[in-house]
Amino acid sequence: MKFIGFFLLFTTFAFGSEFITKSEYAKMLYKNPRGIGCNKCHGSKGEGALIVKYKAFNKKSNKYEERSLMAPRINNLEFQRFKLALEDSKGIMPSYFLTQNEIVNLFEYITSFNKDKKDEK
Ligand code: HEC
Repeated sequence: MKFIGFFLLFTTFAFGSEFITKSEYAKMLYKNPRGIGCNKCHGSKGEGALIVKYKAFNKKSNKYEERSLMAPRINNLEFQRFKLALEDSKGIMPSYFLTQNEIVNLFEYITSFNKDKKDEK
């Protein structure tokens, strides 16, 4: 009997995802989504951020030009657009293999940082 009790305790700790809230889970996903964290490119609140500045040669002007690569703001998008970007990323952004639930969770988490929406009220 003692053994069974121990076993049950173990399984609750191992599989009891209820130990963290939805928003904690989404925060974890945003920072570590089985790949490079979204925050590394899009900023911790999805506000968009500079990824890198570089110089490129412009043949017309015969000069080097400063260019920058930005990750766009993502806390103000429609759900469909957000979802599509995650399921079908082609450009610089890596591909992620997230479940529908994870995408919804991430969407709710990231749009909670959309200050403009709160100001509208
Ligand atoms: C290596 C940097 C990088 C990482 C990491 C990254 N993104 Fe992106 N993301 C981009 C860039 C750059 C774009 C612009 C389109 C493109 O070039 O792919 C983009 C586009 C998007 C878009 C579409 C924006 C629009 O206006 O339609 C969404 C939504 C998005 N990212 C969400 C995420 C989420 C959520 C994660 C984490 C699971 C993530 N990104 C991780 C760089 C990144």
